[in-house]
Parts: sequence; structure tokens; C-alpha cells
Amino acid sequence: MKYSANPTALSRADTILSVIFDGGELSATAQQFDHAGEITALIKCGEISGKFGEIAFLRQNNQRLVLLGAGKQGEMSERQFKQLTQKAIQRAKESQAKIVVNALTEVNIKERDLYWNIRFGLETIAADAYVFDQFKSQKADANPLQEVIFHAQDAQAERAVQHASAIALGVKFAKDVANCPPNICTPAYLSEQAKSLEKRTALLTTTVLGEKEMAELGMNAYLAVSRGSQNEAKLSILEYKNYPNPNAKPIVLVGKGLTFDAGGISLKPAAEMDEMKYDMCGAATVYGVMNALAELELPLNVIGVLAGCENLPDGNAYRPGDILDTMNGLTVEVLNTDAEGRLVLCDTLTYVERFEPECVIDVATLTGACVVALGQHNSGLVSTDDELAEALFNASVETQDKAWRLPLSEEYQEQLKSNFADLANIGGRWGGAITAGAFLANFTKKYRWAHLDIAGTAWLQGVNKGATGRPVGLLTQFLINQVK
Ligand code: BES
Ligand code: MN
Ligand code: ZN
Repeated sequence: MKYSANPTALSRADTILSVIFDGGELSATAQQFDHAGEITALIKCGEISGKFGEIAFLRQNNQRLVLLGAGKQGEMSERQFKQLTQKAIQRAKESQAKIVVNALTEVNIKERDLYWNIRFGLETIAADAYVFDQFKSQKADANPLQEVIFHAQDAQAERAVQHASAIALGVKFAKDVANCPPNICTPAYLSEQAKSLEKRTALLTTTVLGEKEMAELGMNAYLAVSRGSQNEAKLSILEYKNYPNPNAKPIVLVGKGLTFDAGGISLKPAAEMDEMKYDMCGAATVYGVMNALAELELPLNVIGVLAGCENLPDGNAYRPGDILDTMNGLTVEVLNTDAEGRLVLCDTLTYVERFEPECVIDVATLTGACVVALGQHNSGLVSTDDELAEALFNASVETQDKAWRLPLSEEYQEQLKSNFADLANIGGRWGGAITAGAFLANFTKKYRWAHLDIAGTAWLQGVNKGATGRPVGLLTQFLINQVK
């Protein structure tokens, strides 16, 4: 799909998306198509009045006009705007639209400017166009839509198209790798995807560590999780350098990459276990963000780390009761082999100390408890650094890729006490999303750190089962905001 911003392309389009406001007030573009009073006539006969959710369709010469009710100008929420865009684009596609001029740019979203109108519009259209039919014999019908031209032009509009296109691309890459089945998307597959990113930009180099290298580094917690699987663990490190000072401290993003999590010896119940192929969505997110970054060429130094691994029960698997020597020296008693993400992450978080990070943000489908706490709309945010937490929260509000901070006070550490080791890998029944974060905090003392628990937000269940590509938008926005 091709996206651009241009206010003089109406004649090039086969389909135009436009709005009418409450009380039948025509938008500027709707006025242009009302030469002979065609739209006024539609309003008069009650076909459309401008109420939010209404839709009407009109042919004029060789062009189609999709008219939408937009309610009162200036009162639309971000969510309503996305719904409006979706409705309009679906109607356009039903008519086999190829080239669309999108004049929904004339809607003022509450407390948002044109930049965000285009950001939300483009990202919604790209998400709507996503299909994953790689493994279907019968492929989906090809999308007729080839080009969307946002009816606007200024520096803001062009920047919005650029940012949104890059994020949409990152989201697509994240979804593709996340939706891929676990017999194909193994830790090695993840590392090959990471490696292939090198070809897209000279700004990025990828290093992959296998189990031998990890053993030499003392990453014994990470390796313990992997022991039950025949698929070798792979830790991929993607280094993106584009800062005027190449030695400037990097921002490090770490993604949990469990390509399948059966729970290990503490085996999960069978129902919905297939969804544990999505336990690599943290890594998919980091991979998506690195793709967006390569596209945007932001002047930053960023390191993305994909912690690839698989958690299966087996004669060689680690057990409840085992005590593990982590890379930073702390010992951990395993009380549940299904709390594996934090074991993979704790060694990865120690590993990244060598980069002397400006800050480290890990992204992980870490706990079911986070979904209980926040539902499927907000990612959980845990941090030992108020400034970093605020920057991430702000990016989440801006992008509407929502996150909500959970408290991380000293008390929670007490839940992680073990009779036999320095730490236990689980913290008991209550506050599971926080105790998981508290566990990780023991391994992040050398830098500013935040953790995003995306167990509820990374994929959808049921008939719409599929990866969401979240929080690629949030994190890419965070990076955009870091550019001085
Ligand atoms: N990958 C899961 C978390 C998860 C569960 C994400 C369900 C999304 C949906 C993680 O490895 C896990 O199993 N966590 C356990 C921790 C518990 C044993 C302390 C959980 O949440 O049940
Ligand atoms: Mn688990
Ligand atoms: Zn897991």
C-alpha cells in the first residue's frame, strides 16, 4: 500500500472518504461534491444527518464518495475516529476502491492535531489490510486498495505519514513473526529474522549467541528453561547505530522470546495452550520496533535483544526444586517451571549491562496475573525509575497503545524469599504481575529500567485470534520522543 499526503489529488482518486457533521453540516470536501446539491438532497431525504456512525454512498461521474456522519466537530475520541476510519475503508473496499483520497483529515479529534489524525488514520488502515494466510491453501482475496492519499499537506502531515508508515511496517513484521506457528517459529527462526534485518539497513548489525556461548557467560537460568526443548535457545542482539556520537549510551530493548511455553514440568492445562506460541510477542515487538527504526533512521543508538527459548517438559527438563546460578551471581529456587520468562529475562538483563545502557526496557508476555489486573486493553508497566516510567506512559497516551503503571514497593520483594536460595522464582498468589517485576528488579540495578507486561495486549483470542503488534507503536513513539 502506498500512502501520501496531498490536498490536490481529489481528481486522481476513484473513491473519496468524507464527512458530514451533526445537523447536516458539510465538511469542506463534502461541499466540493455538492455542486448540484446531491449531498444536500441526501440530507433532506434523511439518508444521512451527520450523526456519528451513519454512512451513505454516492456516485458522481467516475468517482465514488463514501460519506460518514462524524457527530459534532471537535468532539470525537481517538477510538471513535479509528472506528470511523475502519468503517469508511471497509465500505470503499467493498466497492473495489483502488485509489482513495481520505478526507477524514477534516475531522478534529478531541485535543489532537492533524498529525495525530493522520497517524491514527494510516495505522488503522494498515491494520485493517493485514492478513496472515501463509498457511492457508485458499488465499484471501487480494486487497483492491493500492493507494491512500491523505487530504492535507504541510510538514506535519508528511511527518505523520512517514512515522505512521514506519510503525505500520513494524507492526506488520511483529504480527507475522508472532502468528507464525511454533513448529516453524523456533528460537533459531527468530534469530534468522533478526539476522535478515541487517540486509535492510547498513545501520544495523546482528549477533546471535547459541547455548555454548551462553554457557560460557554463565547464563544458567536461561539455559535451564531451554533444557527440556530440542530447539536450541538463541539470543539475538541487534545493534542499531545512528547517533552523531557512535559511543553514546544506547537505549536497550529486551524481548521475551518463548516460541512456545508449555509450562515445563509444571505443565499448563490443555485449553488454549496453542496461544502460548504467542509467548514470544515481547521479542516480536522488539523485532518490529527495530524494523520501524531502520525505516525512520532516527538519530539514536538502540540495541534490540530477542531472548529466544522454548519451555517444554522432558526427561532433561528443569524441575521445581532446582536451584539455579544466575549470571549475576544470585541463586534462584525454581518453585514453578512455568514462571520461566523471568528466568530467561534475568540473565538477559544481566547480559545487557555490558552495553552501559542509557536505559533498558524489557517487553514480555510475563504473567496471567497482569491480564487479571488490567484486562486486555492496557499493558502493565513496572519501573524503578519514575522519569522513564513517565516517558513510557506518555508515549502510551499519545499513541493510545495503552499502558498502566503498577506499584513496585519494597514489600513485594518479601514475597520472593526462598528457604534455600537467594530468591524464589514465584511470589505467591497475590500481585503476580508485580512480583514478577520485583523479581526482575533484582537484576537491573546497574541502569534505569522499565518493564512492560504485554500478556493481555499482545494478541487477541477467539474468532479474531491473532497478534496485535502491540506495543510496537508505544515503543517506537518513545524512541521518536527521545530524539532531541
Ligand atoms: N507466558 C506465561 C504468562 C501468560 C499466561 C501470558 C497466560 C498470557 C496468558 C508465563 O510464562 C507464565 O506461565 N506465568 C505464570 C506465572 C506463575 C507460575 C507464577 C502465570 O502467569 O500463570
Ligand atoms: Mn510460563
Ligand atoms: Zn511464558
